[in-house]
Amino acid sequence: MEAYLSEWLSLLVRWFHVIAGVAWIGASFYFVWLDNHLREPPEWKKQEGIKGDLWAIHGGGIYEIAKYKLSPKEMPNELHWFKWEAYSTLLSGLALLFVVYYMGSPGYLIDPSKADISIGTAIAIGLGTIAVVLAIYEALIRSPLADNGKAFGLTLFAILVLADWGLFQVFTGRGAYIHVGAVIGTIMVANVFLGIVPSQRALVNAIEKGGDPGARVARLAMLAKLRSTHNNYLTLPILLIMISNHYPLLYGHSYGWAVLASIGFIAAFARHYFNLRHRDINQPWILVVAALLTATLIWAIAPAPVTSVAADGQVVSDETASAIISTHCVACHSNAPSHPAFQSPPAGIMFDELSLLASHADKVRQVAVDSHYMPLGNVTGMTDEERQQLGQWLITNQPE
Ligand code: HEC
Repeated sequence: MEAYLSEWLSLLVRWFHVIAGVAWIGASFYFVWLDNHLREPPEWKKQEGIKGDLWAIHGGGIYEIAKYKLSPKEMPNELHWFKWEAYSTLLSGLALLFVVYYMGSPGYLIDPSKADISIGTAIAIGLGTIAVVLAIYEALIRSPLADNGKAFGLTLFAILVLADWGLFQVFTGRGAYIHVGAVIGTIMVANVFLGIVPSQRALVNAIEKGGDPGARVARLAMLAKLRSTHNNYLTLPILLIMISNHYPLLYGHSYGWAVLASIGFIAAFARHYFNLRHRDINQPWILVVAALLTATLIWAIAPAPVTSVAADGQVVSDETASAIISTHCVACHSNAPSHPAFQSPPAGIMFDELSLLASHADKVRQVAVDSHYMPLGNVTGMTDEERQQLGQWLITNQPE
């Protein structure tokens, strides 16, 4: 019953997290798009202090959007702020971290072959990393580095790769990925909370007081712009990390941290093309290079081929395959799992019969032969030789 209810909790929190994330990133994509499509307004609008003009049709109505150079002559009674989308994404993300990883299945996080730590230590490392990276980022954005956008960008990338590498040494690949995601997400929300919103508040206050907003407000606005640029480049990588838990081919690789760093770099680089194009600078070579880098990565991390016979020429017998599966898989992947954490077979996959193994051949190869994702956290201590044997059996017993 407990496992059943915690499954529901995980479902509801995850659902909410995705909804909040869609609302946040959706609004953020929309405003980036809006800013980039504002056109010069007609003279009479300029007289009103409007610097950007845009017309759109959506949901059966026509919208007229005006962006003021500074502010309208009179502030409206109601001004909409966009911040709860970000905050609720962070809160639900942290809740999900607890529900799925810290309290749900420590097997997603702890890999005894990397570090045989208690769940308490794992939580301290996870949350500690998030806090430390955030503190470094906040210190840097208050330092002179903030005046050099490119150097800041490279430093940020280096720090994230370092965190990625470090987490990968301690946690399972999947656990490391999700923590890199949590680090990035926390930085992005801090950018809203500690930089963008305070800068907007200072602007609104200055306008209400009347007169020129002054140098302090201008500096805050400059830093807010920098934070918002970082968020813009981090969006694609964080979305990738959110869905990465379905792809052991990424995090299950023995250099999974480098795989993540490469994809993160390629995604941010591709984003750069769109940012430039929005400013009417067209540099298609960026996309070509991004595609070539992706193809290189796909080639570089391809799993080694498995041959159908062992080195001694023996074909792996059904008995051997059955024994491997009963030792390493069936505790969880059974119609009635004996593992206490599972009420029903995880991912709906069970191996009570050998024929069921063959029917999931491709997936099984990915998670237990080409990568070490299964058995989860290698709880049963499956050896490389057993993985090879399983791979060989799968080749000789492919379903028609
Ligand atoms: C400790 C419990 C446990 C053991 C032991 C275990 N698994 Fe899993 N398995 C899981 C969980 C949990 C999931 C769902 C993971 C997810 O959602 O990414 C899963 C998912 C899978 C999937 C689906 C993956 C996907 O991406 O859809 C396959 C295939 C699989 N396991 C195969 C195996 C094989 C083969 C073994 C034995 C060599 C094994 N598992 C041992 C818990 C276990």
